[in-house]
Amino acid sequence: MRRFPAGFTWGTTTSSFQIEGARDEDGKGPSIWDRFADEGRLPDPGHVACDHYHRWRDDVALLAALGVTSYCFSISWPRVVPDGDGAVNPAGLGFYDRLIDALLEAGIEPWPLLFHWELPQALQDHGGWAARSTVDAFARYALRVESALGDRVGTWLTVGEPWVAGILGHAEGVFAPGIRDWGVALRAAHHLLLAHGRAVEAIREPGGASRVGIILDCRPAGPATRHPADLDAARHFDGFRNRWFFDPVFGRGYPDDMLAAYRDLGRIPPAGPDFVRPGDLETISRPLDLLGLNYYTSLEIRAGGEESEDTGVPPGPDPPPGHTEMGWPIIPGALGDFLIRIHEEYRPPSIVVTENGASFSDGPDGTGRIRDDRRIEFLQAHLEAVADAREAGVPVDGYFVWSLLDNIEWTLGTSQRFGLVWVDHRSQQRRPKDSYHWYRRVIAGNQVPPP
Ligand code: FCB
Repeated sequence: MRRFPAGFTWGTTTSSFQIEGARDEDGKGPSIWDRFADEGRLPDPGHVACDHYHRWRDDVALLAALGVTSYCFSISWPRVVPDGDGAVNPAGLGFYDRLIDALLEAGIEPWPLLFHWELPQALQDHGGWAARSTVDAFARYALRVESALGDRVGTWLTVGEPWVAGILGHAEGVFAPGIRDWGVALRAAHHLLLAHGRAVEAIREPGGASRVGIILDCRPAGPATRHPADLDAARHFDGFRNRWFFDPVFGRGYPDDMLAAYRDLGRIPPAGPDFVRPGDLETISRPLDLLGLNYYTSLEIRAGGEESEDTGVPPGPDPPPGHTEMGWPIIPGALGDFLIRIHEEYRPPSIVVTENGASFSDGPDGTGRIRDDRRIEFLQAHLEAVADAREAGVPVDGYFVWSLLDNIEWTLGTSQRFGLVWVDHRSQQRRPKDSYHWYRRVIAGNQVPPP
């Protein structure tokens, strides 16, 4: 039996595009993901998603019955500021205002994230994250949201997974806005980090008593063999995927080896990145109250795969043993190791696992019960890794399951089911899975039962 201390934060995480729907309702402006969908690049265009915009009371009730102490959700920027930098849309802000009140009434701490990739399309039309003006717009948005809701929010999160938004969106082009240009991608990624720093400053304005953090995603990776070429490839992958983000956030600036590598690859000019202005690195590395860490899988890297996340297993049902339906290898130990590494290298005062979970499509059996044993096994093993890290002295103070509901998994649509709660995407009926009941017992007892 692995025990967690009283006061440990237990939660689930969702994101606005993935659950809200109501894409064009109550004055919401379009986001780059809406545009991406309208271009036919998403299997599910997100008009309805989980209809959370209308069913949020039911979803708060599900959270309350689950017993979570906290709930991490994202605020849709274009719902609150439809064109990104103009007037606030009171109906959009009102939605989050009511959600926060209902959560508090249910005894659940709201953990809002200001940006889970939904850039207002109007800002994309003016250069998006590649334009420095977007950083200013984000700082103004952060300030407005904080002044409206901050009296009831104890923990703010700024930017979520800047690697995904920056690199997958602008270099690899697989995510919105679908750009394939490394020069643009590194500029966009820098501006995402700068936006984070500016939001920290906005939230800490005099009078702001909340805690603030960023959410960084990670892909721990090791070399496939001890061959020097594989060692080099693994180091490059770690720089490309992890250090390029963790280092500047924790005051180290961009890593020298990656600056050299990106210069050699022609991704930044020979004289260094021209988008970094004096003072930027100080802003990006403002001290944080907590680091939110998202972890799903880890990789073995070989020479030739320096920037590839390909696991060799495509997403789909019936994954080989040891993989989820995303095709991701299940490697709980890498979470524990990475937590220790983050603690030793960067010393954030507190780390919270803000996303961890597994896609398995188990649905209702003849009796309506959903036996998702593989998800339970996954969560159990990862919680044990968290407990190991705590025992090693890492201040991991919370854990959030991705996700409360089966939702829209971006470019994979509704084919991937990460929820503790099954969602019938036609009727919108919600049905707690076995993992929901298991997690409820974990939270109630502050402990993880043995396998
Ligand atoms: C994370 C995203 C989240 C979800 C999970 C599976 O990278 O933050 O929205 O898609 O992956």
